[in-house]
Amino acid sequence: MTEPIAVKFSKSLPKSAKTLIIPVFEDAGFPGLDIVDEELKAALKMALKQASTFESKLGQVLSVPQAREDWPHRVLFLGLGKAEDFTHLKAEEAGGKLTTSIKKGDKAPVLLFDDIKAAHIAAGIVLRNYHFIDYKSKKDDDKAAKLEQIVVASDESTAAKKHFEADILPIIEGTFWARDLVNEPPNALYPESYAARIKDTLKPLGVQVEIIDAKKMEKLGMGCALAVGQGSDRPPCMVVMKWNGQNKAKKSDQPIAFIGKGVTFDTGGISLKPGAGMDEMKMDMGGSAAVVGLMKTLALRKAKSNVVAMVGLAENMPSARAYRPGDIITSYAGKTVEVLNTDAEGRLVLIDALAYVQKTYTPKMMINLATLTGAMMVALGHEHCGSYVNDDELWAQMDQSGKRTGEKLWRMPLDEAWSKDVESDVADLRNLGKGGRYGGANSAAAFLEHFIEDGVKWSHMDIAGTAWRKSDQPTIPKYGSGFGVRVLNDLVKTHYES
Ligand code: BES
Ligand code: ZN
Ligand code: ZN
Repeated sequence: MTEPIAVKFSKSLPKSAKTLIIPVFEDAGFPGLDIVDEELKAALKMALKQASTFESKLGQVLSVPQAREDWPHRVLFLGLGKAEDFTHLKAEEAGGKLTTSIKKGDKAPVLLFDDIKAAHIAAGIVLRNYHFIDYKSKKDDDKAAKLEQIVVASDESTAAKKHFEADILPIIEGTFWARDLVNEPPNALYPESYAARIKDTLKPLGVQVEIIDAKKMEKLGMGCALAVGQGSDRPPCMVVMKWNGQNKAKKSDQPIAFIGKGVTFDTGGISLKPGAGMDEMKMDMGGSAAVVGLMKTLALRKAKSNVVAMVGLAENMPSARAYRPGDIITSYAGKTVEVLNTDAEGRLVLIDALAYVQKTYTPKMMINLATLTGAMMVALGHEHCGSYVNDDELWAQMDQSGKRTGEKLWRMPLDEAWSKDVESDVADLRNLGKGGRYGGANSAAAFLEHFIEDGVKWSHMDIAGTAWRKSDQPTIPKYGSGFGVRVLNDLVKTHYES
């Protein structure tokens, strides 16, 4: 488990400070730092003046080594760009970009910034400073920064501390957990062990957790999710989570629901994937990781909302017992599905969860997340998450949350034509669109849409391109990104709390 480094807040400059981080705006010159004495201020001003190449662009860093004996050891000037453009997202980006400049030995740098956005600069540092090193035998072998904590010294330290601890830290913790789960190797994280982890983590936080094992799935008739898992020695399961945080005084509403694809490893099954890069298919549970990470965040910040979540966990393996192309299977909802490609398994796991949640909890709004199609990556790349939404108001809310959190969404089409594209000649539906590769993300979404009941506001977020990054981003180190926790937490907070 990766713990975020500690962020401390102080009204004064700690005596022990060895590295000072001094944010500077492009157009505002040297920042007014009330907590720094005049002498130090003058010295910092001089150092900044002498550095002609430093333009204070967002995330630009100027490192000034110790110049005088009574100085802190090092000063890092951090560019913030233009003051009028400086949003909390820019603050996070600047913090993230700074992280690589904080080298070994600087275990507790001090950030001096007289603004509540200091909390977001710190958040950026913490988010970028995630390292998945559970499987390294030498933990300090890691080349990256060995930070232990960040101290924010600020006039606004009380407000910044409150904001950080109440609003930001729960998001970081949910995101880190989601990243950890995605980064876990598939020999350690398989349906049963994953379900146990979910229970062990969320139950103590007050989330009700119910594991529906394969036997119970059979009784319930979840034929599609079972088919996906049947080739594996590790049986599939489903996990249902409930957070009842709604203000009791208010009328208890229908819940909102989040559903995640949790294919702990996707070989493609009998429709086997090519070998190169197959290791990355350990991330095929990224949708479920975002969902359970979100539940952690909501519970940590005691969200005043009633939320149901469900993840479908299965390992897609080829074997003598595996499901085959040509099989016709029956879903929990009763509709039959002709399997034409065993690698289009995510939709089969999802439909049983979607149908179960609707039947059992009648949610007023439901969002599923899944690393569903390679086609989505082809369409949108890694920057945006393609989102299918059957309600304009819900889309408007999601779009806003995407823009506010930097987890960007892009609306994709749901259309009658795509719904027809997944109708089968011999069963109700087929798990592969007739168009084959073309529009593959759209036919996958249309397949799911067949299982959405009338009146339910629903979105399918295909996070195939965003759940896993192959290169470092300002606030996301490469590999599991935790995508989804931030945007959905914002959505719940802004529109679904009483
Ligand atoms: N898990 C994959 C989709 C995926 C691919 C996610 C790459 C992340 C990165 C999914 O189960 C899959 O294999 N989909 C097929 C569907 C096709 C057979 C209709 C695909 O995208 O090729
Ligand atoms: Zn697949
Ligand atoms: Zn898959």
